[in-house]
Amino acid sequence: MTRMADNKKSQKGNKMWGGRFAAGPDAIMEAINASIDFDKRFYAEDIAGSKAHAEMLGAQGIISADDVKALLTGLDQVLGEIESGTFAFSRTLEDIHMNVEARLAELIGEPAGRLHTARSRNDQVATDFKLWVRGELDRTMEALADLQRALVVKAEPHAATLMPGFTHLQTAQPVTFGHHLMAYTEMFERDRTRFGDARARLNESPLGAAALAGTSFAIDRDMTAKALGFDRPSANSLDAVSDRDFALEALSAASITAIHLSRLAEELVIWCSAQFNFVRLSDGFSTGSSIMPQKRNPDAAELVRAKTGRIIGAATSLQIVMKGLPLAYSKDMQEDKEPVFEAFDALALTLAAMTGMITDLTVNEDTMRAAAGHGFSNATDLADWLVRAKGIAFRRAHHITGALVAVAEARGITLEELTLEDMQGVEPQITKDVFGVLGLENSVESRKSFGGTAPDNVSQAIARWKERLK
Ligand code: ARG
Repeated sequence: MTRMADNKKSQKGNKMWGGRFAAGPDAIMEAINASIDFDKRFYAEDIAGSKAHAEMLGAQGIISADDVKALLTGLDQVLGEIESGTFAFSRTLEDIHMNVEARLAELIGEPAGRLHTARSRNDQVATDFKLWVRGELDRTMEALADLQRALVVKAEPHAATLMPGFTHLQTAQPVTFGHHLMAYTEMFERDRTRFGDARARLNESPLGAAALAGTSFAIDRDMTAKALGFDRPSANSLDAVSDRDFALEALSAASITAIHLSRLAEELVIWCSAQFNFVRLSDGFSTGSSIMPQKRNPDAAELVRAKTGRIIGAATSLQIVMKGLPLAYSKDMQEDKEPVFEAFDALALTLAAMTGMITDLTVNEDTMRAAAGHGFSNATDLADWLVRAKGIAFRRAHHITGALVAVAEARGITLEELTLEDMQGVEPQITKDVFGVLGLENSVESRKSFGGTAPDNVSQAIARWKERLK
């Protein structure tokens, strides 16, 4: 990094735009202005965009066929140099666009100077960045599908495994562990389609918008759009170079996914505590303590939970960069890249870690079942039975059940351990068939309403998802 100490002016003007400048930039200027340290990350997209542009210029007769050939060969050579690590990136050349073009000039001479006809770095960077974000959206959708598959595989043998369902993290009603995991499959499906929606809106090509106003050359924007896999060229040149909502939308979708991941991560942390002991994370996804030999820490789950902060921070950061920017391009927008890189790196890692944790997870069925029987989780079943079997209004049934819970609680027993006499002392209408609804299996089996936790429902949902995620 260039520091204050060597703050002297470079003697040479910039090769790319230096025509009207007598002196080169101040060293501090170069340090604040250069983006090459991070935008080199989309060199492949930059070169793909340049190749599409060169071919279009040739097809439109704007440059000669020989120039096109030279440009394509040269661009491939630059690509090879970057990929083999022999390319010398220069901060004086500011960014990836000018680094590539300058090297191209060294390699092929004169024709390199024709590549930038009818193009500006403004439409170029918007194109590159869109291509890069599009690739990340596709990779994220794949990673989400992997996680969904892992959840379905883990849920399948546990369609009927009892666990306590919670509200307020207080035992509420028994559910099945399969049902709980499948809740996340639904969540991650919304996430996956959210990335798909973002992709569809992103997929218009900015290339050919030039600096901001379009160009006087007879370019063919449909041709470049098609070559780069875009659905169509964007319709307004000012919008094309100035908008970054595709990045904001990608970051928003990433934030929501990260929030979902953090919720599952938090549950894993709770479930593998000694107090809960519902699940065991594999050795591969746990760490020990350097001082407490008994510890198995769920570090991966904690870090998944924590990375949400980084991802939401990135979304917030770009929102604030974009807020209030006048049309069209402003250099502020160079600050769009790092938050997106950071967020998608973190998201890819957390998705992979979560998929690994779920795949390896082992389930302590006995502990979960025992916990499902605590906390009067069958109280609603009792109240529902009073409504169904005895025609009592739900509000009164709720009250009666509350009184029975109080009796059982005072004696330190469960509802099904009360005698019929105990129950009739509270509500004379209660008959012995009440005991048929108090078992946990009976409770979950009765929740047959669409989307409910009945094991048959859960198995059907698992089968549907298996088919869908093939
Ligand atoms: N490095 C710049 C960016 O990332 C490229 C566009 C520069 N355009 C300009 N007019 N200076 O945004």
